[in-house]
Amino acid sequence: MTKVLNVYLNNNLVGKLVQNKHGQMTFTYEESWIYTPTAIPLSQSLPLQKEPFKQNQCRGYFAGILPEENIRNVIAGNLGLSSRNDFAMLEIIGGECAGAVTFIPEGKQLPNGLESYRALSDKGLADIIKTLSTRPLMAGENGIRLSLAGAQEKIAVHIENGQISIPLNGAPSTHILKPANTRFDGLIYNEAMCMKLAAMIGLPTAKVKISSACGMDYLLIERYDRKIKNGKEVRLHQEDFCQALGVVSEMKYEAEGGPTLKACFNLIRNVSIRPVIDLQHLLDAVIFNFLIGNNDAHGKNFSILYYEEGGIGFAPLYDILSTSYYPELSNKMAMKIGGEYVSDKILPKHFERLAEDVGFSKPMIKERIIEITKKVLSNLSELGVTDPISCQISTLIQSRCERTMKLFS
Ligand SMILES: Nc1ncnc2c1ncn2[C@@H]1O[C@H](COP(=O)(O)OP(=O)(O)OP(=O)(O)O)[C@@H](O)[C@H]1O
Ligand SMILES: [Mg+2]
Repeated sequence: MTKVLNVYLNNNLVGKLVQNKHGQMTFTYEESWIYTPTAIPLSQSLPLQKEPFKQNQCRGYFAGILPEENIRNVIAGNLGLSSRNDFAMLEIIGGECAGAVTFIPEGKQLPNGLESYRALSDKGLADIIKTLSTRPLMAGENGIRLSLAGAQEKIAVHIENGQISIPLNGAPSTHILKPANTRFDGLIYNEAMCMKLAAMIGLPTAKVKISSACGMDYLLIERYDRKIKNGKEVRLHQEDFCQALGVVSEMKYEAEGGPTLKACFNLIRNVSIRPVIDLQHLLDAVIFNFLIGNNDAHGKNFSILYYEEGGIGFAPLYDILSTSYYPELSNKMAMKIGGEYVSDKILPKHFERLAEDVGFSKPMIKERIIEITKKVLSNLSELGVTDPISCQISTLIQSRCERTMKLFS
């Protein structure tokens, strides 16, 4: 049986995603959208055109909206779906997604006017957090259709005047909430401190804070793809670098065929309305991730944002943490720097090669590394961390920075 999902950007019907009886997806833009003067594409990998996109052309973007790994498998099990059926999963959970996209089964309407919020008490929130491992993204609960990429447990919430609520029936969220990770000690504190450090050294970074409900700590991340306009939440479109480059989530690491740093820099150079600034930020992010030991900076951990007033830019940074703190995690970086995957083996010659690859001058990159390393060192003590894990991560970052200073000065 052929199935159809209407694909919306905010309230605009932009196209149809069709799954044929063999399970193959195709996507076609609505002609009316193509000819809309303010039209934007869903993805840089899906330029506005009349011709349909085949499964191998559109899967990177569409499947890239969905959660990954175990989260995806548990949701599929709970909902009675095959975890490989992207279309069926988008049909059930593709309501509130990254960016401004929403999927509505053919024959149904956007839930305009029905949006609502369920306010949570501390206990109500704590109860939800406790069930997230068995009910990821709260998928299947009445009124909840939420999809975010990634392999960590999370939900999207709405916060107004300190009140946390669950968005229902198409209502937009304002924050992403990540509970403490049971496998990796202190993961949320790690992420909170590394994100704050990135912001302190001047990198545009999503705002984060640690909060708690009934003694259960969680990380709150402010969504940069939502903004208040005339008192109402508005969705801005975004996509991650893998989606923009048409790379499927299963291949997000360079070693599997995923984006290289060169491809990432080229993407920003080609799409950004302020390429000089954004290329500098991307370079700074690469240096920062190297300094803190974030080996998981893959193509789904960088995004581009489509501004409301038009134009595209490099989105604020998110999902930044020191993975080197966990010896059981790979010491291989998600993307090579100048031909080298292992960050402990990085020498000035590797950054010089990166400079050549991405079109920066070698002395400029070296200078920038020293500048950022100094900034990280001077801001580390300002972070004011007190818990034992954050203190250990701070010491780790400090020793990585000191090593870098020796190598590069
Ligand atoms: N502050 C933010 N504003 C808007 N969207 C965001 C923000 N932070 C993350 N996202 C979106 O949510 C997705 C999942 O977030 P995140 O990368 O933090 O999750 P994760 O499960 O920790 O990922 P990973 O599997 O890489 O560890 C991102 O890929 C991005 O599309
Ligand atoms: Mg991520």
